[in-house]
Amino acid sequence: MIAGKKVGLRAVEADDLPTLHRWANDAELWSNLGGWRFPSSFDSIQRWFAGLKDNALNQRWVIETLDTHALIGTANLVDIDWKNRHAFHGMMLGPADLRGQGYGRDTVMAVMRYAFDELGLERLDGDIIEYNEASVGLYVGRCGWKEEGRQRRWHYRRGRFWDRILVGVTREDYSALVQASGYWSA
Ligand SMILES: CC(C)(COP(=O)(O)OP(=O)(O)OC[C@H]1O[C@@H](n2cnc3c(N)ncnc32)[C@H](O)[C@@H]1OP(=O)(O)O)[C@@H](O)C(=O)NCCC(=O)NCCS
Repeated sequence: MIAGKKVGLRAVEADDLPTLHRWANDAELWSNLGGWRFPSSFDSIQRWFAGLKDNALNQRWVIETLDTHALIGTANLVDIDWKNRHAFHGMMLGPADLRGQGYGRDTVMAVMRYAFDELGLERLDGDIIEYNEASVGLYVGRCGWKEEGRQRRWHYRRGRFWDRILVGVTREDYSALVQASGYWSA
């Protein structure tokens, strides 16, 4: 398990699939995520699950609370490039009523600590739809990420195009944040 202060990230288990299937069909949740999909069947989730074990360059985890072990979301490090030492990161909390309680921040901090202090990566990439203010607040506002560019009119949602905000964080940004915030010692 990859532990933060409030959450742990662990491998996906077969018992998680009904919940992941429900989230995979949650339109409100997906409206905030960069990817997109057609409504997905339980069978397609099972096939996705079967492919996870052989996919070392794409690590996908579930987020659970450390105190009650409740399944609350997913996080990943994908497209891991060992030569150039970077990877792409994304996350989401499934239940809307759990947002705004620090679980997102703890997840990103745990992912960064694992990526930089354990895997030896140098930077992480992410992307955010321009209207996702919570995500900009989380990554750029609280977790040391920087906006590194914008791809204009990249996402088509709600009947119009929106920009794709490219964000990134380096090992150096993370170290400075940990030092300034005292996150792991507080
Ligand atoms: C985005 C998301 C991961 C944030 O996680 P969270 O647990 O709600 O966020 P936290 O409680 O850890 O908040 C951390 C910081 O994010 C920012 N933030 C969180 N919610 C916010 C909101 N609704 N509006 C603006 N900023 C917000 C704040 O800066 C906050 O710090 P503060 O509490 O000190 O002000 C969560 O809302 C989510 O899963 N949303 C749906 C899926 C999604 O958007 N995933 C990311 C795709 S890029």
